[in-house]
Amino acid sequence: MQSVLFVCLGNICRSPLAQGIFEKHIRAAGRDAAYDADSAGTSGWHAGEKPHSGSIAVAQKYGVSIEKQRSRPVHAKDGEIFDYILAMDSANRAALLGEFHFPQEKIFLMRDFAVDGKKGLSVPDPWGHGSDAFEEVYRILDAAILGFVAYLQQKR
Ligand code: 4NP
Repeated sequence: MQSVLFVCLGNICRSPLAQGIFEKHIRAAGRDAAYDADSAGTSGWHAGEKPHSGSIAVAQKYGVSIEKQRSRPVHAKDGEIFDYILAMDSANRAALLGEFHFPQEKIFLMRDFAVDGKKGLSVPDPWGHGSDAFEEVYRILDAAILGFVAYLQQKR
């Protein structure tokens, strides 16, 4: 069993959606027994809360269930527990390295797995934006996670 942690700032918009989309694709690939996924925020601002209604709605639209997730902050031990730690943006990645001192080799920028050839891009924060922003985040995450699942399959 390998484990994957998706990380954003609040753990209510991007990373819960990323976890849900990953679980959907890994199940579709018949590989759900091989991976354990979770998500967390570099802040604890929304600890205990459900995902944002915009994320729940866009997930539901594409057959992804995230409403049972609850926000939690990144824990110091996550750096030991998880095999892959996927940051939604460069600020999240900087916090995982600088504040949490997680091993650099475990940390990836989520969009670097998208097969569009562009590196260093962030998953934009939809917080405070309308449903179009959540739709855009879904589209970006779906492409990046398909690339990530392909990367995991290749590494087998
Ligand atoms: P997330 O979005 O990092 O994708 O969960 C945010 C949620 C809340 C806040 C910022 C970003 N906030 O400032 O409370």
